[in-house]
Amino acid sequence: MFLLPLISILFILATLSNAQFWPEVDEAILGPVVDSDLLNLVLDDPDFLSQVRILEAGLDNSTKLEYKNGHIPNAIYFDAAQISNQSDQIIYDIPQPEIFENYVSSLGISNDNDILIYDRTKYGMKASARAWFLFKLFGHDFVSILDGGFRDFLSMGYNITEKISEKPKRKFKVFYRPELAKSFEEMVGVVKAKNMTILDAREKSEFDQGQIPTAINVPYSSLFESDTDLLKSDIELWDMIKQKNIDLSEPIVTYCLKSPRASALMFVLDCLGAEQVSLYVGSWNEWSKRINQTDLV
Ligand SMILES: *[C@@H]1O[C@H](CO)[C@@H](O)[C@H](O)[C@H]1NC(C)=O
Ligand SMILES: *[C@@H]1O[C@H](CO)[C@@H](O)[C@H](O)[C@H]1NC(C)=O
Ligand SMILES: *[C@@H]1O[C@H](CO)[C@@H](O)[C@H](O)[C@H]1NC(C)=O
Ligand SMILES: *[C@@H]1O[C@H](CO)[C@@H](O)[C@H](O)[C@H]1NC(C)=O
Ligand SMILES: *[C@@H]1O[C@H](CO)[C@@H](O)[C@H](O)[C@H]1NC(C)=O
Repeated sequence: MFLLPLISILFILATLSNAQFWPEVDEAILGPVVDSDLLNLVLDDPDFLSQVRILEAGLDNSTKLEYKNGHIPNAIYFDAAQISNQSDQIIYDIPQPEIFENYVSSLGISNDNDILIYDRTKYGMKASARAWFLFKLFGHDFVSILDGGFRDFLSMGYNITEKISEKPKRKFKVFYRPELAKSFEEMVGVVKAKNMTILDAREKSEFDQGQIPTAINVPYSSLFESDTDLLKSDIELWDMIKQKNIDLSEPIVTYCLKSPRASALMFVLDCLGAEQVSLYVGSWNEWSKRINQTDLV
């Protein structure tokens, strides 16, 4: 979905071959969703590489080892677990802004860089969407995700490398947007006031065992084509949202068990033009441990 129309690809290629235009570009040079063919096409262009940072996002330590054994050329490893503040109740809590700022700077990323993220999970979205959410929360908008992730890139037969790409440290500054993240206390307020659409990105079997009151189930897996594991087309996604009576102009909050799948749903809704989407960071893991039904009356 959201594949760049040919005209934009031609524009990008024209821009790439015309270095003098490069610094003037004040818009994302990639659409929010990028496919493997386009990435492979621009992957060894020096202008593209100076503008765009490619990140492989991982949520566990085994991914880091797999990254070392072969990754998309020029990709930098983004440790989405290490940069998250983990506790028993909130598995992937938000890092302190200064910690995020220092970490991103240390990877050689500045506010001027566009970012393209991929991961190795089944749909190429879970860890990437977590990283996308952090960038969005901390004020960076030009962040794209590779459709189908590493698996799709490999399956197309494109070259990978073991070469670790080190970039010199740059200055990244955060612009924190607290409205994109909801806490437990805020969610209790939302449930009582019934003033947001609550979307649960867990699978139906998980949803059926208990959910936050009024939540609508939009399973993570339903965002993808079952045969290719790529994102569904925007028309199919629109249809699904419409069938569930979800109004994209209303305030929406997403959650799942730990928050990565809900970040992916947030990403998709953002791409579809939702105006006010936020994430319940503690998600069901925290809610189910803390909620006291009497507090909701
Ligand atoms: C992952 O590695 C880091 C250090 O690199 C360590 O602190 C952390 O405990 C490890 N996590 C797991 C789940 O093993
Ligand atoms: C996690 O939270 C604690 C307490 O607020 C803070 O000291 C620590 O730096 C945080 N870690 C990260 C990765 O943000
Ligand atoms: C992979 O790399 C080799 C050697 O650099 C090159 O000849 C080949 O065209 C590349 N394949 C693809 C699919 O890009
Ligand atoms: C919903 O209601 C709660 C509690 O009154 C309030 O704090 C919050 O700002 C409201 N949110 C929206 C999106 O209107
Ligand atoms: C739930 O809240 C009620 C009223 O505030 C309180 O009386 C009760 O002890 C609480 N139950 C638990 C398990 O915390």
